[in-house]
Amino acid sequence: MNHPGTPALKAAWAAVGVPRAHESAQLHVLGQATYTDDIPELQGTLHAALGLSQKPHAKILAIDLAAVLQARGVVAAYTAQDIVGSNDCGPIIHDDPILASGLVQYVGQPIFIVVADSHDNARRAARLASVTYEELPAVLTPQAAKAAHSYVLPPMQLKRGDYQAAFERAPHVVTGELSVGGQEQFYLEGQISYAIPKEDQGMLVLCSTQHPSEMQHVVAHALGVHAHNITVECRRMGGGFGGKESQSALWAAAASIAASKLKRPVKLRADRDDDMLVTGKRHCFYYEYAVGYDADGKILAAKVDMVLRAGFSADLSGPVATRAVCHFDNSYYLSDVEIRAACGKTNTQSNTAFRGFGGPQGAIAIEYIIDDIARNLGRDALDIRRLNFYGRNDAEGRNVTPYGQKIVDNVIVELSAELEASSAYRVRRAAVDAFNRSSPVLKKGLALTPLKFGIAFNVTHLNQAGALVHVYVDGSVLVNHGGTEMGQGINTKVMQVVAHELGLDIAHVRATATDTSKVANTSATAASTGADLNGKAAQDAARQIRERLAAHAVKLYGGDAAVVDFYDNAVHVNGHVVAFTELVQKAYLARVQLWSDGFYATPHLHWDPKTMNGHPFSYFAYGAAVSEVLVDTLTGEWKLLRADVLYDAGQSLNPAIDLGQVEGAFIQGMGWLTTEQLWWNAAGKLMTHAPSTYKIPGVSDCPEDFRVRLFNNQNVEDSIHRSKAVGEPPLLLPFSVFFAIRDAISSVAGHRVNPPLNAPATCEEILKAIAAVESADAGAA
Ligand code: MTE
Ligand code: HPA
Ligand code: MOS
Repeated sequence: MNHPGTPALKAAWAAVGVPRAHESAQLHVLGQATYTDDIPELQGTLHAALGLSQKPHAKILAIDLAAVLQARGVVAAYTAQDIVGSNDCGPIIHDDPILASGLVQYVGQPIFIVVADSHDNARRAARLASVTYEELPAVLTPQAAKAAHSYVLPPMQLKRGDYQAAFERAPHVVTGELSVGGQEQFYLEGQISYAIPKEDQGMLVLCSTQHPSEMQHVVAHALGVHAHNITVECRRMGGGFGGKESQSALWAAAASIAASKLKRPVKLRADRDDDMLVTGKRHCFYYEYAVGYDADGKILAAKVDMVLRAGFSADLSGPVATRAVCHFDNSYYLSDVEIRAACGKTNTQSNTAFRGFGGPQGAIAIEYIIDDIARNLGRDALDIRRLNFYGRNDAEGRNVTPYGQKIVDNVIVELSAELEASSAYRVRRAAVDAFNRSSPVLKKGLALTPLKFGIAFNVTHLNQAGALVHVYVDGSVLVNHGGTEMGQGINTKVMQVVAHELGLDIAHVRATATDTSKVANTSATAASTGADLNGKAAQDAARQIRERLAAHAVKLYGGDAAVVDFYDNAVHVNGHVVAFTELVQKAYLARVQLWSDGFYATPHLHWDPKTMNGHPFSYFAYGAAVSEVLVDTLTGEWKLLRADVLYDAGQSLNPAIDLGQVEGAFIQGMGWLTTEQLWWNAAGKLMTHAPSTYKIPGVSDCPEDFRVRLFNNQNVEDSIHRSKAVGEPPLLLPFSVFFAIRDAISSVAGHRVNPPLNAPATCEEILKAIAAVESADAGAA
């Protein structure tokens, strides 16, 4: 802190835009980072487990907990009747009981809480209940829900132009269907809450959550107390991926209910199997489409009907379906279009947020359609994609989305051209074709897919954030903000922003745990907006302190406050170079306030949910990827040989962290589209509830040749240092893997037949598609 720089350094000095290690990287690697379960337990701490429904849909006639209560170490057990406040943890619609009361709606739904002296004793006891059910018919697939008109919300639709007339006029049409599976978040740290009673109705909840404020409210309602009695704290999560946006609530509420009854600290840590049986996942989608196009492959009319598996309750399915509708266009202009989405009510886990939040599911449908069109016309899919890209400006036109937002930052044309060149796409296309001609069993496939992703919560009021910055007398800085750290690096970025504003190295700034008693009414850290919103709020706070310090510096050294510079850990004022710490000490003695709050609300957003029109997004993030795969057509096994990725992070706040986000999302999305398969048996039980049966990608699934780069761009919006969000959009990049596999499959019949390939493209699914292609081709011949 005591190394004042020279004016010559000013241009070179920056705390943002530089690659910096994650603030907890060392702690992560050394095993010293504290997750909720690592926090030392208070004396008298008890452990809870949940008793789960064995039926997908049934009336509960009786619950006999006698054996549970007699089990070793058990202290108490609670059912819905014991809840003093409201028995609900639904984030939007109140259809989400904490504990089932009278009716169970899926296998795995919690019915009771058992509290014991140890985690293991609680889990063993939870299995000893005797529940009498009267079974009811269960709906287990979204298609069945649609057939029964059984929805958790009214279906939605977005229309522009005159689809029917355009479709009838179109010289070519393609119709089809597609199903895309769901995905388990598989955060490495499972759901956990540790509830500690405080005096006079108070409760401190240490919770692994993306949404501390929502947890505060759910716990307050469940306990029947005001929010100011409840404090929720989260230092970090071992991953959230959307799974802790709303669904940490059940665990926070259950632990708090038990803790408040017993007046003792209660920890509820979900075992992996319970976590997967109880909580919702990414929504699986089923699509029917009918699209008209011209001889060049330009889309003239597009209609898609999507039905998604909402599960038994609404949870976040409404906004997820909305985001799917608003991402069906992906990077393409659709003049005459009808997009429908319906949230099928099924007797399964209530599906929820997962990285991309419906966006990936919306966009993959149009990519599938374009892939069909290309094959029908005997063209390279990249040419059809390019032909349909949004226009770049008003002169080009074709630059308004179906929901009415004008696109003013389109870089997909340049970005995909740059990637096409740097990946040697055309040369490799020829090489793939040559390889396939001479290789009867092993087939290669290649695909380039683009992405455009809207950044902002699609519920406008959620786009706000707050922060607190403290400068202590020794010159060290503490920042608290409403965002939560789940590994994505939000704290590092916010620390960089604060450091930059005060002209300090990042080492002088520390971030604290997220805490509802520090910043109130925070939004979930979600929609990839964490750094955008909280970075701006923290910048606002730091700027106020900086302005006070600048004013004080002018008092001491003269000059103009507007040209006081803060960089290189020093304040540069009227020809003087004063160490930051020295000025802080002088300001303190002069009674200058050295801490501040900050606030940010994203401007220009509006949205009408009835017409599905408006300006829901602050800006768009763009990217593209090229994947090359090798498929064994006898076994369905495949390998990703090479992936080239280009992502638009604007002026990246931290290129090291952003590259990590892009790589991670790519591999996670590849898992979704290829190996991760959720499977419910005929009795409605999810059978893939552990890593033994549910295959997430491993390190060996990463391509040996993985070329990930950031696109050089500036956000045209005044975002934090002109950066762009990076958390979710790159999950769409591995579409290229899926379509490369489809390309390899289609080569078995000379690309004459559209392979009916559903996601996940497991080995079985690949073999099925190969068989279908071969028989269709034989039939046509
Ligand atoms: N990265 C890590 N390591 N762990 C996570 O849980 N969640 C993703 C993404 N990247 C996640 C992650 C999701 S779903 C979102 S919305 C964003 O991070 C949230 O953080 P941000 O808004 O600060 O980018
Ligand atoms: N993403 C995540 N969470 C949300 C969103 C979104 O777009 N909208 C409302 N909650
Ligand atoms: Mo991310 S799915 O918005 O938590």
